Amino acid sequence: CHCKKTICQGRLCDFLAEKQRATAELTSEPNRTSAANPTSSSCFCKEKMNSVSFSYHMGCLPLFTLVTLSSQCRRHLEQITSVGPRPVGSPENEVLTVGYLLEQIENIRVETAAGHHQLTVDVQRPTGTFSIDFLGGFTSFYDRVTNIAVRLEPKGGAQHLMLANCHFDTVANSPGASDDAVSCAVMLEVLHSLANQSTPLHHGVVFLFNGAEENILQASHGFITQHPWAEQVRAFINLEAAGVGGKEVVFQTGPENPWLVQAYVHAAKHPFASVVGQEVFQSGIIPSDTDFRIYRDFGNIPGIDLAFIENGFIYHTKYDTSDRILTDSIQRAGDNILAVLRYLVTSEKLADSSEYRHGNMVFFDLLGVVVVAYPARVGTILNYMVAAATFLYLAKKASLPGNRGGRYLRDLAYATGIAVLSWFVTLMLVLIVALLVTLLGRSMFWYNHFYASICLYGSAAMGKIILIHTLAKNLYYGVSGDFILGDLYFDVSLLLWCCSLVWLTQQGLCSAYVPMLMVAFPLATKLLLAKEFKHRGASLKYSVLYLLGLALPYVHFMFLIWVVFEIFTPIMGRSGTEIPPEVVMASLVTLATIFISSFFLHFIYLARSTKWILTGLGSVFILTFLFVSCGLLFPYSGSPESPRPKRVFLQHTTRTFHDLQGQVESHDSGLWINSFDFTCIQHVTPHIPEINDSIRTSCREDRPFCGYPWFLPVKFLSKKNWYLPAPEVSPGAPVEFSLLSREETRWGTVKMTFSVKGPSHMSLYLMPHRGASLSTWSFGDGTPQFDLSGEYFVFYSHGLDAPTWIFWFEIQVYRNTDVCPEGMISVAISSHYFFGEDSRTAQLEEILHRFPTWAFPSSWVSTYDMYRY
Ligand SMILES: *[C@@H]1O[C@H](CO)[C@@H](O)[C@H](O)[C@H]1NC(C)=O
Ligand SMILES: *[C@@H]1O[C@H](CO)[C@@H](O)[C@H](O)[C@H]1NC(C)=O
Repeated sequence: CHCKKTICQGRLCDFLAEKQRATAELTSEPNRTSAANPTSSSCFCKEKMNSVSFSYHMGCLPLFTLVTLSSQCRRHLEQITSVGPRPVGSPENEVLTVGYLLEQIENIRVETAAGHHQLTVDVQRPTGTFSIDFLGGFTSFYDRVTNIAVRLEPKGGAQHLMLANCHFDTVANSPGASDDAVSCAVMLEVLHSLANQSTPLHHGVVFLFNGAEENILQASHGFITQHPWAEQVRAFINLEAAGVGGKEVVFQTGPENPWLVQAYVHAAKHPFASVVGQEVFQSGIIPSDTDFRIYRDFGNIPGIDLAFIENGFIYHTKYDTSDRILTDSIQRAGDNILAVLRYLVTSEKLADSSEYRHGNMVFFDLLGVVVVAYPARVGTILNYMVAAATFLYLAKKASLPGNRGGRYLRDLAYATGIAVLSWFVTLMLVLIVALLVTLLGRSMFWYNHFYASICLYGSAAMGKIILIHTLAKNLYYGVSGDFILGDLYFDVSLLLWCCSLVWLTQQGLCSAYVPMLMVAFPLATKLLLAKEFKHRGASLKYSVLYLLGLALPYVHFMFLIWVVFEIFTPIMGRSGTEIPPEVVMASLVTLATIFISSFFLHFIYLARSTKWILTGLGSVFILTFLFVSCGLLFPYSGSPESPRPKRVFLQHTTRTFHDLQGQVESHDSGLWINSFDFTCIQHVTPHIPEINDSIRTSCREDRPFCGYPWFLPVKFLSKKNWYLPAPEVSPGAPVEFSLLSREETRWGTVKMTFSVKGPSHMSLYLMPHRGASLSTWSFGDGTPQFDLSGEYFVFYSHGLDAPTWIFWFEIQVYRNTDVCPEGMISVAISSHYFFGEDSRTAQLEEILHRFPTWAFPSSWVSTYDMYRY
């Protein structure tokens, strides 16, 4: 078992000493670990662990006494993050972190051995491949990435298992405290508590500490498709991060299986969940994905996805450090996960989940105190009942005797028209402001000053809505303080919310509960207050009671809006150079204003004058606009308390292009610079003058992936990039690429087989030329998966060490089209040196020093080699 030597041996509790030792071992004997057992992809370390655990246990014991759960978690968190970034394949990930986790798990095993449960540890090193349609089409190949699976079950064994998943690997250059070390720390302590529990569990739990998630979900795929325990898994709970700290939110559950939501509702101590989040996430607007997808699509297992969402500004940056995660966050996450797992492993439903499989749940929490949850069917009935009540209420008015009913309907139609028009005009106006800000080069001013977006776009939107209705009141209706008009505009809001309620319900969306609340509560309030309103109009008493009646749906709605901004504001810092952030932000603020103002519109008609409020909003708008246009609100910040870093990728690259004859056609080197956001290098150039638009590159359409070493297939998101000439890179272990064989198959295709030996991360790009296409290959399920532009991207990675990568594809050439002079296909391979000496060069070091403190340049070394056949 090859994990035993480097990982399980050693007597030091001091982790950093271990690091030095292991690194030294690694460099002196690079092949030992793989040579120990090259064929087995999965090895059971249990026996070996027993024999070495004693010394660990004795050495560490004093540390464990008299500490509480969250401080214990914090200690794990600090230990895991102390080794720094943990990209797949690095000794930090594969040796040190694995070693630390195994050591802690062994401590738990020994400590709880006398109890009711047994604990089995398995280190799996799976190899596999899959394709998913994430990021436009994406194929992955992994070789010997790491999973630590811990099976906890009653001493007699268990037939059904729950899976709890976290990952300990990170992206390059980030310590990954919240993403996802803290979850692994929490899982260790949850394991500890469950193992130690005096009442035996009914079912088992597999705690999966997965070591390759940032590599786009590879390790979870390895577990769920290959591990012998996988087929006993009935449901899973996945702990992720899209931010740093704060509360963890349930952002998706299912598919179907309402009993999982019920388990969360019953058990979670500090619930934080809404079905809106789930439906938004599953619509694909948010450009990220979690292991949830793998378990759902490749394992057919339902589950709960939990993630920290606050402060996404520093997610995947060097600022994701353990000191930014409050102990409260850890405690809350631990309480929740322990309670939910404990509930599920004693649940009857886990054993026979197929019986409870069908149906969806509407669920949402109210102020984090209680979760309301009911089956979607009940929701549909409820929604239609509320809609019916609204139509009854309106119908009653429309059927007034004489021509009063007809007049009411006509007025309602006109008023609805005015309201919708006011919203449309408002949105247009705010978008014009957004365009102006963009043209002035002040994009993303709200990135570090969020309130400024409300002051600018919010005041513009609110002012415009009020202005239009004031004009309508004065010019069109020609009255003031009219309570029949007030009533009418209340009905307009009700009608529009009700339409969206019916529409969302018809679409089968559980999120329809939001308009349901926004109809039911105002309607009930209005009916209850009808008398008061009739006698006294908008008296103080009426206004206060009205606000109270609206409080519950509004508070919930405001909270949803807060979540939207919490998520989307930071995403604008990493959504590429093509999406204009001002348009997104202005639209979001305007929509929020429209939604929030809806049930207050009628106050405009009840009020005598709106002069003061318009003046106020106008001044706020003008002042903010002046501030923004003078550039007084800088988007980024390097302040240690609340950093708002600008994300930049720097890849020191050497490129070689071969022609059809195999000769080197061109060869160059440079720093390839990619901005993550719309402001590009605008703010960087003043600090580093040579990074300016004179070195902007453009896409070479005749080269795979534009001829640049893309690490992810996101060239459609970041079309602007820069290439600063630099000396050649010379990694210690350069890529060895060769064509092993080329043969005509009996069925008329050309089969080409290649071998590649290189660093832990490589990308393979395939671009069939005109008149040729890929028919099959050795990846995924054999069907080539192309991306948005019709090219093929294969993400390769390996763990600590791996044999040569062999792959093949078959290419079909169409006889009756003219042959492309460049051959039938371009194949390019690029390497990414993410860690160790190979990841650094003098030029990178020099330029990194010159980046301002508000920037987060993430750098590594790459090569790109292109061949034509
Ligand atoms: C384990 O159980 C013992 C006895 O029930 C208890 O004193 C101890 O605090 C428990 N430890 C943990 C980590 O729950
Ligand atoms: C722009 O960059 C190029 C190459 O990096 C450099 O030679 C030139 O001086 C820069 N221009 C300015 C105005 O700094």
